[in-house]
Amino acid sequence: MSLPRLHPDTIEEVKQRADIVDVVSEHVVLRKQGKDFTGLCPFHDDKSPSFSVSPSKQFYYCFGCGAGGNAIKFLMELGKRPFGEVVLDLARRYQISVKTLEPAERQELQRQVSLREQLYEILAVTSKFYEHALQQPQGAAALVYLQQARRLQPETIQQFQLGYAPGGWQTLYSYLVEQKRYPVDLVDQAGMVVPRQGGGGYYDRFRDRLMIPIHDLQGRVIGFGGRTLTDEQPKYLNSPETELFDKGKLLYGLDRARAAIAKDDGAIVVEGYFDAIALHAAGIGNVVASLGTALSLPQIKLLLRYTESNRIIFNFDADAAGEKAATRAIGELADLAYKGEVQLRILNLPQGKDPDEFLKTHSTAAYQTLVKAAPLWLDWQIQQMLASKDLSQADQFQQSTQAVAQLLGSLPNASLRTHYIHRCAELLSQGNGRLAVQLETDLRTQVRGQRWHGRSQKWQTKGDRTLLEESEAQLLRLYLHLPACREQVHEALESRDLDFSISHHRVLWQQILAFTRSAVDSDPAPVSADLLSQLQDRISEHPDPLEHLYLLFQLDEKNQYDLRRSALVIRGAIACMERVMCEKRRRHFLDLWQKTNCATDPELGQSYQQQVYLETQRIEALDREQRLTTFADLAQSPWVGEPLEL
Ligand code: UTP
Ligand code: MN
Repeated sequence: MSLPRLHPDTIEEVKQRADIVDVVSEHVVLRKQGKDFTGLCPFHDDKSPSFSVSPSKQFYYCFGCGAGGNAIKFLMELGKRPFGEVVLDLARRYQISVKTLEPAERQELQRQVSLREQLYEILAVTSKFYEHALQQPQGAAALVYLQQARRLQPETIQQFQLGYAPGGWQTLYSYLVEQKRYPVDLVDQAGMVVPRQGGGGYYDRFRDRLMIPIHDLQGRVIGFGGRTLTDEQPKYLNSPETELFDKGKLLYGLDRARAAIAKDDGAIVVEGYFDAIALHAAGIGNVVASLGTALSLPQIKLLLRYTESNRIIFNFDADAAGEKAATRAIGELADLAYKGEVQLRILNLPQGKDPDEFLKTHSTAAYQTLVKAAPLWLDWQIQQMLASKDLSQADQFQQSTQAVAQLLGSLPNASLRTHYIHRCAELLSQGNGRLAVQLETDLRTQVRGQRWHGRSQKWQTKGDRTLLEESEAQLLRLYLHLPACREQVHEALESRDLDFSISHHRVLWQQILAFTRSAVDSDPAPVSADLLSQLQDRISEHPDPLEHLYLLFQLDEKNQYDLRRSALVIRGAIACMERVMCEKRRRHFLDLWQKTNCATDPELGQSYQQQVYLETQRIEALDREQRLTTFADLAQSPWVGEPLEL
């Protein structure tokens, strides 16, 4: 069933009117406890009531499994239903009149849909054209190349729909535009022709190249990679970005690989088209290619949909090895791997070969043996660091220890750090037991210093996105986009006497306060509905420094995820903000105490000392809280569930 697109006003009104206690109590037996209600969590096997519903915050939260959200989210999760459907149901129930998008907007939507349909068709026809050309005399050299240099069987060539773009400037153009009568403008939008410089006409983008069609998840052709058969540059020419083709958001071969990824509960990522093709041909099906660029978050998210335990093996070309090259290729996976959200392993094939080259001289079984032995990313990095070092030389030993400490300092998980500190001490001490014990202590101190240094530096660097700035931004973004959490934010800030430190955040917060106050005086209802647009108006009156506030009005993938675990994000952000305050106060009192002459004024000295002690204790408590929220965060799988809004 396809749903009409709902007007944002309708969505907003449903959000306002659907009462969380009302909605939840239809599905869960709730008991009042203080201001809130509790019951057995419907999202996990709950033995004691860990599910709590707050009428004042219009929020539910489970302390057992971390599920949480507003009334809409509750119904979405419970019934595994899409956002639009739940909103429509609630609108009926609360007798809210349903507005859909304007006819003009609907038409525009329709137009885009039909444009895409036409582009799909042109690309499908093009792909067939190339496949056919490969079997013609003009494609003979390309076919020989595939069969001999690449050792591909006819089945594989057919399966991957490999083809040949003939030489000549207008071969495809003539076929599509003159013969098939596709509007040239659409062929251009499909990325297949290029307009001539300073003059009418178009010429074929791909000429005398081996053509590899790239498919979306539904198996439709959305673009091409074309490999030269000579030594022309570039080696691979790819389709430009089009309405259908976004290289940064797809993985080559995923349409074929996804079933195998789910079955093996893991994915192998390689760099090249032919690496993926060769592995598939060798019977290894859970393989996708990153197309030589750094992995982006959308790409990783796509992959993780299919592997339940988030296992990824990155088989990248070892000739460009070194950790820097690896980290670059791994892209946004690095962060997720450090946090333990992805189990990332690294596979480098012997002699710096890529999978395609390797399989020319080795069996499938040999490849699989190497896959099984592939080290975790962290272990691989440690191996790389120590591989070229002579640890009996004092300077190299010291460099290695330092490098290891720096690496381990970036691990957010404490027990993982302990584990690796122990292991690295063993590796570095090379079987000398007494040295190992000493080294473990040293390493622990260094890692702690590293973490502390890294953190306080992060907090102090101006201009950069510091941890504090990020926390404040997260809080503001939640406030703006998730009306249900506004009260919670107000409460948290007030009860801990906190304010925003970054100046443009402070300005925005003042605007918010001013607006909420004036709105409450007149009529409380439109507060949420209007807040976003009103603030955008007000802020556009300010020039320059407020420009980056606009970022807060947008939601990217990561922010969407934050919205779904808002309770945790708020706790984490508040803890970070308070910690910075405490740190400032602690330094202030320490300073005062050092300037006090404790011989003449012992009481004053003692009171400062007491203050320093109190702040230190509070800082430790906040660190614990942050660790706790990080832990709870890890317990939730990152990319599950419906997107918050359609
Ligand atoms: P490689 O240069 O490692 O190529 O690029 P390869 O796949 O081993 O190439 P062969 O074996 O010589 O044919 C890896 C991937 O990076 C992208 C392609 O997707 C390629 O498969 N790439 C590379 C480009 O897009 N353009 C280029 O010019 C080169
Ligand atoms: Mn290759």
